[in-house]
Formats: sequence, C-alpha cells, structure tokens
Amino acid sequence: MGLSTSPTVPGPDSLDPAIDDLSGQVLELAVIFARRAGRTAVEMRSEAVASATTKSSPTDPVTAADQEAEAIVVDGILRHRPDDSIVGEEGAQRHGTSPVVWYIDPIDGTTNYLYDIPAYAVSIAAAVDGVLVAGAVFNPVLDELFTARAGHGAYLNGRPVQVRPPVPLSSALVATGFGYQAERRRLQAVALTRLLPAIRDIRRFGSAALDLCALATGRVDAYYEVGLNVWDYAAGWLLVHEAGGRCRDLVGDDPSPRFFMAAGPDLIEPLAGAIREAIASAEGKSLSTTQNL
Ligand code: IPD
Ligand code: CA
Repeated sequence: MGLSTSPTVPGPDSLDPAIDDLSGQVLELAVIFARRAGRTAVEMRSEAVASATTKSSPTDPVTAADQEAEAIVVDGILRHRPDDSIVGEEGAQRHGTSPVVWYIDPIDGTTNYLYDIPAYAVSIAAAVDGVLVAGAVFNPVLDELFTARAGHGAYLNGRPVQVRPPVPLSSALVATGFGYQAERRRLQAVALTRLLPAIRDIRRFGSAALDLCALATGRVDAYYEVGLNVWDYAAGWLLVHEAGGRCRDLVGDDPSPRFFMAAGPDLIEPLAGAIREAIASAEGKSLSTTQNL
C-alpha cells in the first residue's frame, strides 16, 4: 500500500477483528509517544523563543521543540513498528511496507507554544489501508489527553465524550483558524465578517487539532478552516467522527487540506451553506475561486 496523504474515516460496518485488534495496539503507542513528546515540549519551553525560526511565511514559526518532539514520536513508533509509514509536519516522511500510516503533528499550535499560551498539543493518528483507526491528541499543559479508536468512541482523559446537542446556526459557537499566507488571510477575514452575523460567535484557539477536540467534547458547536495539512486534522477527524460529529468539505465530500469543516449532523449543512455564501460574497464572484481562500 502506498503512502496515503488523504485517509478517510471508517464506514458503518464493524471493523475486521484483526484490524480492530491492531487499532488498539497503535492507539497505545500513539498515547505513549504523544505524552512523551508533550512533556518534552513543556520542558523545552524556556528555549522556544531563542530557537524559533520560520517556515512557509515569516509568521509560520518552528522551534527546536517541534523537531525534538517529532523525533521522539517517529523514533518511538519505528522502534515498535519498523515497517510502518510516517508523514510528519517537520519533515518525517517514510514509505514503509506495512498497511499502517502515521500522521504526526509534534506541536500543533506552535504560535501558542512560542507565546506560552496553554493551547498546543501533540497530535498522532494511525490509518490502516487508508482508514483512520486511532488518534491521540495531548495538551501537555492542561494534561488533557483526547483519544479515539475506530468503532470504540472518543474520550477525554478516559471519559467518553460526545458532540453537543443540535443548535440552530444562529446559536452556534464556531471555531476557525487562518493560514500563514497574507493574501489568503485577507480573504478569510472578509469571509468571516460575512459569517459572523449569522452565528453566535467565533473562537480562534490557534490549534486545529485542539479545535477538533473541542468540537468532539462539546466545547464548541462547529469548526472550519481552509488550508490545513493532513497532520493537523487526522487525529481530530477521527475524534469528531467517534463523538458523533461529521467532517466534510464545502460540497459534501471528505474534508481535505483545501477545506475542512466539522459539526454535529444537524448543523453541518446549514453551516456549509452559510460558509459558501460568505465565501462567495467575500470574493464577489463565483465559488470556483475558493482555492484562493
Ligand atoms: C497551525 C494551527 C492553527 C491553524 C493553522 C495550522 P501549527 O498548525 O493548527 O490553528 O490555523 O492552519 O497550520 O503551525 O501550529 O502546527
Ligand atoms: Ca499543525
């Protein structure tokens, strides 16, 4: 099986027992190394500012801890499962021979980390044959561990969690985020001013992985963002799925780096409609140009 950068979530049928068993094993590893990498990030916090450089734009930071945390996760996983594939934010890329692919964001919310805002997390997901089966997101400052395993529900520190009960769009608290490119941000901001009057309010926590965990635990009603990467959302997508929520793109296909939205089953379509309108009016033209957003 090749290295898939577009995994999906499981369908309604129960998992093959062998894959179900494997999902338990990989979740255990995800938890061990999410905790270990998260603790290391906290220990290295005092070096964050001095070690920071930038990546895709002058506002896209990376620190020594991002690299160290990724090395901890990758080395740890490969020690136990040397044949698996790896896709990591800080450059880890490995084509293995097994059907398991790992998606690793060693610190999601690096800007928060840089500023010592306690909203950053290690995010680790595993897919088997392109289907996400395990995900762990660990916020080491708040000691919050979010986990999900295909067909077994979503959990915060071991307690089962669910998305919130349905609300009308006008009462929805919606998390979102912005990309690192200035022109894309300008369009995102314009679209947001169109959406804001139609909802309760927005939240910008600064970590896509934690935004999705917030949705899965009922702390927000919905989430959307343009321009994520698979490591930002792989674990959070499974969390939302297992917590009873839906994740998709603007037209109803699987979410992708191009567009990711998530909400409870009743809110997802009204929210998609409102975002489509907001984008169309922000651009002043047709939806076909949303790739700029
Ligand atoms: C970022 C965060 C942020 C989102 C950006 C991501 P990083 O990841 O998830 O909330 O708005 O799109 O790139 O750079 O902190 O790992
Ligand atoms: Ca990230």
